[in-house]
Amino acid sequence: MLSRTIVQASRSSRALRLTPAKAFASTWANVPAGPPDPILGVTEAFKKDTDSKKINLGVGAYRDEKGKPFVLPSVREAEESIVKAKYDKEYLPITGFGDFTKNAAILAYGKDSKPLQEGRIAITQSISGTGALRIGGAFLERFYPHSKSIYLPTPTWGNHIPIFKDSGLKVEHYRYYDKKTVGLDFNGMKEDIEGLQDKSIVLLHACAHNPTGVDPTKEQWKEIAEIVKKKNHFVFFDMAYQGFASGDIDADAFAPRYFVSQGIPICLSQSFAKNMGLYGERVGAFSIVTESAEEKARVDSQIKILVRPLYSNPPVHGARIAGSILADQKLYQQWLGEVKQMADRIIGMRTALKDLLVNELGSKHNWDHITNQIGMFAFLGISPEQVEQLKTKHHVYLTKDGRISVAGVTPDNVRHLAESLHDVTK
Ligand SMILES: Cc1ncc(COP(=O)(O)O)c(C=O)c1O
Repeated sequence: MLSRTIVQASRSSRALRLTPAKAFASTWANVPAGPPDPILGVTEAFKKDTDSKKINLGVGAYRDEKGKPFVLPSVREAEESIVKAKYDKEYLPITGFGDFTKNAAILAYGKDSKPLQEGRIAITQSISGTGALRIGGAFLERFYPHSKSIYLPTPTWGNHIPIFKDSGLKVEHYRYYDKKTVGLDFNGMKEDIEGLQDKSIVLLHACAHNPTGVDPTKEQWKEIAEIVKKKNHFVFFDMAYQGFASGDIDADAFAPRYFVSQGIPICLSQSFAKNMGLYGERVGAFSIVTESAEEKARVDSQIKILVRPLYSNPPVHGARIAGSILADQKLYQQWLGEVKQMADRIIGMRTALKDLLVNELGSKHNWDHITNQIGMFAFLGISPEQVEQLKTKHHVYLTKDGRISVAGVTPDNVRHLAESLHDVTK
């Protein structure tokens, strides 16, 4: 009797407890489902495909000749000595590992850079390139006195838009890519940049423009610099691929170095994801060229105030790896060779793909853009319908805009890619 009463009591109290939860809508009932990430969606679809010929050209990460992820030997070596040294795991300072940021600035601006020698470049370690862009966006939103808009090329890396919107900036665009030529819309770009209000913020991809692989030539960069200077614009350089584009770290840094030499005010984001293959380690840097050492100190202090509530201080392991590669002459030389090796493999695959299409398969289209473009990506200039056909008919996966990651093309799959591309463009 007693136990029945207890059971009944506990049942009714459970029922009572459940009632209010059922009567009210969930706190998150109004959260709409967001669209899946377009690039990760490609990988999901690829994983589900069971065909042995399938190729994933969606993801922007380097693959070796066998299509496997690649850890650079210089990175392995640096990492082994770091592990052996048994460093502690204490916090880094807010702006990161000083030995790393000092050398990252030399890599970007060049050792002879005047503002570097004059101690007027403020720099902080960042959570890879994405984090650098986000810190930069927040800094400009807070302190840039002339505008709260940033002008991005059309098209641009998809993440630029939410990064700058979330930083509180208004995102606007300038012309960049010409669909007809699958190349640079140089006149459109110049016209738009010239037409902006004086002192606007313009984002430029330093090299290996993502997603198009289309870069201005040195002469064109000089013309752009001229306009930017005349209009007193501020330039945000995004340099996610230094060395990875041409195989030469100095050639790939031409644009930011030239702009700095012209006295144009710039800030810069750097990523070590691609050129050191440190994707998941999240190693990057954000820097601003200032007018004086005194101004740099003030900017530095505000970068710290921005970073502290964002993530307090950056992760240490990857920065130690990148820092020791940049600081050790032997490892540094070895790394330069490895960057070149990665860039050359990509350039070789571009040539092989075009060669197969034009010379072997007899495609009537002009595929010169495949070899004219630079860096990890090739913009094929095909329609979303052709992209869909590549997927459904040939098991070749790429983003809807017709961009392939050339890093995913290998001697084993290039023929299947060329034949598939030829088939859907006949
Ligand atoms: C143009 C551009 N900027 C920045 C990044 C930042 O990448 P991460 O945050 O991995 O360094 C990427 C990566 O794909 C990129 O393509």
